[in-house]
Amino acid sequence: MTSNRFWQLNSRPEAEDVSGSLSLESEPMPELADGEVMIKASYLSMDAGTRMWMTEREDGYQPPLELGTKMAGLVLGHVAASRHAGFAEGALVRGFGQWAEHSIVQPELAGLVKVDDSIDDIKQHFGVLGFNGWTALWGLQETAGVKASDNVLISAAAGATGVLACQIAKILGANVYGLAGGPDKCRWLEEELGITKAIDYKNADIAAELAKVDGGIHAYFDNVGGPILDAVLPNMALYGRVALCGLLAQYKGDGRGHGPEHFDQILMKRLRIEGFFSPDFADQGERLAAELKTWLDQGLIDTPFDITDGIEHVLTAYEKLFTGGNIGKVLVKI
Ligand SMILES: NC(=O)c1ccc[n+]([C@@H]2O[C@H](COP(=O)([O-])OP(=O)(O)OC[C@H]3O[C@@H](n4cnc5c(N)ncnc54)[C@H](OP(=O)(O)O)[C@@H]3O)[C@@H](O)[C@H]2O)c1
Repeated sequence: MTSNRFWQLNSRPEAEDVSGSLSLESEPMPELADGEVMIKASYLSMDAGTRMWMTEREDGYQPPLELGTKMAGLVLGHVAASRHAGFAEGALVRGFGQWAEHSIVQPELAGLVKVDDSIDDIKQHFGVLGFNGWTALWGLQETAGVKASDNVLISAAAGATGVLACQIAKILGANVYGLAGGPDKCRWLEEELGITKAIDYKNADIAAELAKVDGGIHAYFDNVGGPILDAVLPNMALYGRVALCGLLAQYKGDGRGHGPEHFDQILMKRLRIEGFFSPDFADQGERLAAELKTWLDQGLIDTPFDITDGIEHVLTAYEKLFTGGNIGKVLVKI
């Protein structure tokens, strides 16, 4: 390989139109500086939260990406070259790199970690054992304090984080309710994942459906915010907890939206709403992954993957996160 293809961010996308803002570029294979590692990507992880990095907002959990630079994202691959003592050539690694065939990273800044290459399917490092798995586990256990017999509601339930949250909530003994777009996803959630009930938020009256849940919602694992959160708040149980994982309904614009119209319900129902962010508990990653690995080995949890082949098709894969074209984890195979 003498050249490296990568996606470059050229402008701030407007609403849905991400494709007009990125271009596939090629460069001569970059040289490594001291302390750097080159990762030859096997898979690129498509993550909805990265949409916010394309906006101008300065007060997100990460500063905006500079225009004219490579699009950033999570990468799983092998070390192709290294000038860092901690990472030998050939090691399987995961960390924040670029939407590129080869990512050049400083391991400390990239959160680069070596991961087990002896497991049956290395994709699970972006599935059950990856950030989405940790996020689902942490959000349910630590943030929402889910207990057996709780009524737990999960939005974007058929997405990467959602399917794992559904399965983990079931393992914790909860009654699991999921929100997803369309009858096919809802059927899949009930028949394949075995959740208590899936609600098609695109076609049903969410508030009316949730009002039927006996005892109300004790814990809401929210991936979307926006109008769905508003429909949920009046249906929370007294002393309910909302684990705020993501704000998918707001990522397309400048990342902001209005607060919930039913804000008063936080007091009326004495609710606790808490945001949480996976890099904050990256130091717990090994412990979380070990717990998840036990369930994976026992066949209690799994991730469906939605795989697109080839770096030239990254945007097709990415758009699914916002149009609802995926069940499970969206990956691009390089
Ligand atoms: N806090 C953290 O540390 C952390 C870590 C990882 C992910 N997250 C968050 O988790 C959420 C899910 O991200 P992901 O990468 O796993 O994506 P994903 O769930 O695999 O894909 C997104 C799914 O969300 C649904 N969706 C999209 N826009 C929506 C909207 N406006 N309202 C309702 N549903 C919508 C779509 O399914 P439908 O067909 O059902 O609409 C889509 O398939 C994001 O908010 C992300 O930021 C947070």
